[in-house]
Amino acid sequence: MKKLLAIILMGGFMMATTAEAKTLVAYFSATGTTAQVAEKLAKATGADLFEIKPEQPYTEADLNWHDSQSRSSVEMNDTSSRPAIANKVENMAQYDTVFIGSPIWWGREPSIIDTFMESYDFSGKKVIPFVTSGSSGIGDTAKNLKALAPNATVDTGKRFSSSVSEEVLADWAKQF
Ligand SMILES: Cc1cc2nc3c(=O)[nH]c(=O)nc-3n(C[C@H](O)[C@H](O)[C@H](O)COP(=O)(O)O)c2cc1C
Repeated sequence: MKKLLAIILMGGFMMATTAEAKTLVAYFSATGTTAQVAEKLAKATGADLFEIKPEQPYTEADLNWHDSQSRSSVEMNDTSSRPAIANKVENMAQYDTVFIGSPIWWGREPSIIDTFMESYDFSGKKVIPFVTSGSSGIGDTAKNLKALAPNATVDTGKRFSSSVSEEVLADWAKQF
């Protein structure tokens, strides 16, 4: 009888801890490429999906990297730039694993991702960056995220093309 009770209690405990282990895929996407990967990753992992929406959306002119005075150029030239975010993750505390997706801008994450990192307490969480880009790798993204969330475990992350399959994403994500 005692043994049975122990098994039941153990089962309940395991269910409770499994239920608590929630995953979030949060992403910023200026032109929809990262959004495609984020949606597939959320599906592949059964995670909640959150789009980081800028208070002031980026126009085509804002994204012109040939113009040193464009909004993105000005923001990316200033590492203290923190563009405002219009929306908030409800109850970030419930997530123990957070995938953070973004395009690569000038070899790293856009400044709005830095705003996102500073908006929540990531202590004790697993943070995994994923990016899309024209051709560059993930660059300084993981290093920068780690600096902004020193008490999180930050993975090196990975660059994906927009055509990556749900299967490939599921296979990559299962290590976390
Ligand atoms: C301001 C800006 C800077 C960029 N810098 C890079 C870069 O350094 N390396 C690269 O390969 N692609 C760069 N790109 C291309 C984007 O990373 C790429 O198009 C990305 O997939 C767009 O994602 P999104 O549609 O989710 O915004 C840049 C794009 C913009 C708008």
